[in-house]
Amino acid sequence: MILDPWRNRLWSYITCLMITMQVTKVHGYKPVIILHGILDAAADLKHLENFIKKAHPGTVVYSLDVYDHYASLNPLWDQVEYIKNLTKSMMDSSEDGVHFIGYSQGGLIGRGLIQTSNEHKVNNFIALSSPLNGQFGDTSYLNALFPSTYKEKLYELFYSHYGQRWSIGNYWKDPHHKKLYGLYSSYLALLNNESLKSDFSYQNSWQRNFQRLNNVVLIGGPDDGVISPWQSAQFACYNEREDVVPMRNLQIYKDDVFGLKSLDRRGSLHECTMANVHHIYWHRTEAVFKKCIEPWLT
Ligand SMILES: *[C@@H]1O[C@H](CO)[C@@H](O)[C@H](O)[C@H]1NC(C)=O
Ligand SMILES: *[C@@H]1O[C@H](CO)[C@@H](O)[C@H](O)[C@H]1NC(C)=O
Repeated sequence: MILDPWRNRLWSYITCLMITMQVTKVHGYKPVIILHGILDAAADLKHLENFIKKAHPGTVVYSLDVYDHYASLNPLWDQVEYIKNLTKSMMDSSEDGVHFIGYSQGGLIGRGLIQTSNEHKVNNFIALSSPLNGQFGDTSYLNALFPSTYKEKLYELFYSHYGQRWSIGNYWKDPHHKKLYGLYSSYLALLNNESLKSDFSYQNSWQRNFQRLNNVVLIGGPDDGVISPWQSAQFACYNEREDVVPMRNLQIYKDDVFGLKSLDRRGSLHECTMANVHHIYWHRTEAVFKKCIEPWLT
């Protein structure tokens, strides 16, 4: 008799505890790894980091402060290998894995890491205006580095062993010099299985690794002003006439080289297009975060 109120109380404690656990689980946001772009550093992504923490309090955000500023021009494979090692413990310490947001060149590094890692634990991969299928265009970045050089001429520099020592060379995709791209591009052409290097053979694991993603979110827009064509952020690229060929018409999609078609078929490929956003504003515009990023960080 006397025990009954205690029993009730015990039950209410247990119920309470279970609800708390439920709530904790619901709000147990996965850690988010974010990677800056070319000539940037982690500090440049402060706004993005704050948007995440404001929307999802308690989220662990790892903003990778590596290959900052001029070091971002290092070859992408070096960066991928270093970051793979650096992020291993971040991924392993989260039972449910992590999300990865790569801004600009950072998204292309993320793509390489995901494709080539048999152990990655990335759930959702969010590429924020990244030249995922190459770059061919004059940009303020290029003009700062190579003043008075035209995009038509840059293949002479980038499609050489020396040129591949620059990160931009690794994803320079000149539609008028496809063969040289195949022979020299030591990063993008490999990831796309477009390499003509005699010793190259495409690893099937690269396809499986990318397909292990739950969602791929491709963010870009027509007013970007840097990524060229801007649709490269959504895996499109130029043909010989410099018309933009959409992702779904490309051989890399049709052959499902790294699983784009499979991801698309199971509803895991999401394009998020926004106008009026210049390249350097993608990560500091809250409307972009709300519409294109926040829904994928649960
Ligand atoms: C990988 O990271 C560990 C520490 O996290 C370090 O000791 C090791 O040297 C790194 N290896 C490479 C190849 O960077
Ligand atoms: C990669 O390219 C080679 C040579 O063209 C081809 O045999 C192979 O099937 C391709 N692999 C994938 C996954 O598309």
